[in-house]
Amino acid sequence: MRLMVTGGAGFIGSNFIRLLRRERPDWRILNVDALTYAGNLENLAGLERDPNYDFVRADVADPAGLRAALDDEVDAIVHFAAESHVDRSIEDASAFLRTNVIGTQVLLDLARERGLGRFVHVSTDEVYGSLGAEGLFREDTPLAPNSPYSASKASSDLLVRAAVETHGLDAVITRCSNNYGPYQFPEKLIPLMIANALEDRKLPVYGSGLNVRDWIWVEDHCRGVLLALEKGKKGEVYNFGGRSEMTNIAVVEAILAQLGKPSSLITHVEDRKGHDLRYAIDCGKAERELGFGRSIGFEEGLARTIAWYRDHEDWWRRIRSGAYRDYYARHYGEDLA
Ligand code: NAD
Ligand code: DAU
Repeated sequence: MRLMVTGGAGFIGSNFIRLLRRERPDWRILNVDALTYAGNLENLAGLERDPNYDFVRADVADPAGLRAALDDEVDAIVHFAAESHVDRSIEDASAFLRTNVIGTQVLLDLARERGLGRFVHVSTDEVYGSLGAEGLFREDTPLAPNSPYSASKASSDLLVRAAVETHGLDAVITRCSNNYGPYQFPEKLIPLMIANALEDRKLPVYGSGLNVRDWIWVEDHCRGVLLALEKGKKGEVYNFGGRSEMTNIAVVEAILAQLGKPSSLITHVEDRKGHDLRYAIDCGKAERELGFGRSIGFEEGLARTIAWYRDHEDWWRRIRSGAYRDYYARHYGEDLA
């Protein structure tokens, strides 16, 4: 198998590539990534000398660049590349439309042009919008995205659906809940709170902190994507989740407890605009049809994540001293110096 992975230098993509190197060592991986602020080749350190791994820097929204990157041997595509942070999409949606919408269509066109087999589109539970206190997102829950990020992902899901219906492309869509684990860019809730707590900085919780997310260990999501690639049925959607619903405040308290830091570090800040109240996933279809399941629960995953961020301070300190520092100052009104 020659597999093209887009966005492989990001959080989930790099975990996916590392999983494949361990579990499908004979596969040949082509990682195509534009290396935006969130793409970091350090996430794949050590693979440079692997004869079954190639990296090409290219933008998925640029057809010519992508055509040059895609060699004749590629059999399938797993598409992770995206602008992924909701707060940035609220600030400026343009990169989200370009990468997430146009980029997905460019890839679909190329997959059709080259007659590729499987196309796995990695999407998100956020396309379903927000739940109240009850209920779960199922694959047939209507799409009702609320942020520019989730609207761009929902658009890309519809383009994938259209490619299946119109052109018969062999594509599947996966929709997963909130991931956490090693190599997550420290703009996202868990790594941001771990890094701030380690530095005894304030932990900025949006609004009441009572919004609920379902947390999944990143490698469990990656295993789900691999199952979808190998066993998914053309045109189907599969939800993945971690069966770990938690309020944000409970997540932050758990981080503080594991680090032995005081709750007084928590500060409630202005709420996110259009902040979705609750995400919760019914992943019964993936469990029944693909054999999907989580391997660890939240407490253990959080302990592993905290250990990773403790052991990799250089990694996140380099990020926080670079361009991300400007974003932090703009968004939270504080300097990370
Ligand atoms: P990330 O922001 O950590 O990584 C995104 C990667 O895509 C980066 O390496 C970046 O350089 C690359 N990229 C961005 N624009 C590109 C472009 N135009 N061309 C080529 N590469 C480009 O994101 P992540 O958290 O790893 O998410 C990966 C995918 O999984 C996304 O599609 C996201 O919507 C989806 N997803 C994420 C989560 C989550 O909790 N993080 C949950 C469900 C689904
Ligand atoms: O559900 C899947 C989605 O999960 C993915 O599609 C997205 O790519 C990913 O970023 C994530 O989106 P969220 O918006 O849920 O994740 P984030 O880590 O930004 O925020 C998680 C919750 O924590 C959310 O309710 C907002 C809150 N939050 C976040 C930040 C960054 C805070 O309270 N304070 C913060 O500083």
